Amino acid sequence: MESCTAAQFSTEGTNVQFASILEKCRELPPFRLPSGGPIPRPEDVTHARDALKAVGKKVPEQGKGEDFVFNLLTNCIFRAVHNHSSDYYGFVVGGVTNAARLADFAVSYADVNPSVHFPTESIATEVEDYALMMLLDLLQLEESQWPGRTVTTGATASNILALACAREYLASGAGQIGIAKALANAGLQDIQILSCKSHSSLGKAASVVGFGRSSVMELSDKKKLWDFDLVKLEAQLVGNKTNGIGSIVAVNFGEVNTGLYTSRVPEIRQLCDKYGAWLHIDGAFGAYVRALRGSSSKFAADASKVTEGLELADSITGDGHKTLNVPYDCGFYFTKHPEIMSEVFQNPGAAYLSTSADSVPSPLNIGLENSRRFRALAVYATLVSYGKEQYCEFLDKMIHFSRQLSSWVAASPDYELLLERPESAYTVVLLRAKDEELNRQLKERVNSKNEVYVTGTQWEGRPAMRVAPCNWNMEKTAYLKVQIVLENVANEWRESRC
Ligand SMILES: Cc1ncc(COP(=O)(O)O)c(C=O)c1O
Repeated sequence: MESCTAAQFSTEGTNVQFASILEKCRELPPFRLPSGGPIPRPEDVTHARDALKAVGKKVPEQGKGEDFVFNLLTNCIFRAVHNHSSDYYGFVVGGVTNAARLADFAVSYADVNPSVHFPTESIATEVEDYALMMLLDLLQLEESQWPGRTVTTGATASNILALACAREYLASGAGQIGIAKALANAGLQDIQILSCKSHSSLGKAASVVGFGRSSVMELSDKKKLWDFDLVKLEAQLVGNKTNGIGSIVAVNFGEVNTGLYTSRVPEIRQLCDKYGAWLHIDGAFGAYVRALRGSSSKFAADASKVTEGLELADSITGDGHKTLNVPYDCGFYFTKHPEIMSEVFQNPGAAYLSTSADSVPSPLNIGLENSRRFRALAVYATLVSYGKEQYCEFLDKMIHFSRQLSSWVAASPDYELLLERPESAYTVVLLRAKDEELNRQLKERVNSKNEVYVTGTQWEGRPAMRVAPCNWNMEKTAYLKVQIVLENVANEWRESRC
């Protein structure tokens, strides 16, 4: 370890039992299913379902015992779940680094609840804040500009936090007096979210905070669906201002189907300033690419360009269980407006929970939950363990994968690349089969081989397939396996038609 001496990490008073338990959790082999692939054998799912039925819906009068449960876990449930190995390219699913997994085992074992900052009693909330500051550093965001920060259960929760803060910004007092009165006081009729191809969780967040899903308005560029049409955006901002509608502009870093980035964020920021809108950036998985800026990666310049302007947001959503490769569930939320955060999320009236004014706010006053998991420990452990250099290597591998596979798809007689160019790929490859009927069946045909796992989507009104590399542990040549599967699927299709 670089700058830490043995003296700093004195072993005096070590909890030997705890250390020996954790020692057993280090360097575990990857989780494997009996199927050997990313999804279980159908018979294992049936077997597990039968086991659940046999146990039944009622709590047993007399418990069945720990041995029974051990058997249920090892022989039923964990034979019938998805295996998020490096062959898993569905949704955006990260793996788990060894350090993150170790920390997460420790969290379950010790059962720590970092809801209140107890400066003289527990270091947990400070660990959480260090983890958040390190995330800011990884994303090359100035710590002093992001005093509002917390760890969440994931990007959906972070998007809820963002919209709740934006609501308070546009209609001050909404958290206290309710949205209807706060809107009236602010002279507003309504609030609208201006976005392009935002993740579905933004609509869910809009529903939760009282705007309604219909408040999310699509302002995509017709030729680049993942990006804004700035002319339309400005027109809508002007119209909203005139009609007493508050605006939130929600930007993608990257868009979930394509992995691509909203461009010209500095101009969007100017528009937000001009028309009093809140600027939110959802960088659930894509924001991490910014870590490559100034690195030795051959993608550093591209990464720098596409992630320009992240620092200009009022709020940022990020996920831990995606590109960071910490276990489910984990996300984070940053805002430049900490006072709004505590206005919205303070847990009022619980005098016994008050803590002295300190630099670390109690998490229960700045986020959704009161009691919560110590999920920040895995973030801290993985960042300390692998550092910027290895995270840049992980990202480099993911982009290399995407560009290699995209090049192959673009040159293939059977498939069509739905990104502009192979070099515009980052951590998602979007494609479709040229044959309409094969295209409709493509995802199922690929997944039925159980060699790699992908998800389907709709793009420009037609089915498409996404391949999203997000696992720290994947081989540099992992794209070849996907190519072979795609090639075999196309060949089998052709043969079946003869
Ligand atoms: C851009 C984006 N935002 C939000 C989410 C929701 O994330 P989570 O499932 O962690 O809540 C996702 C998930 O894929 C995403 O890609």
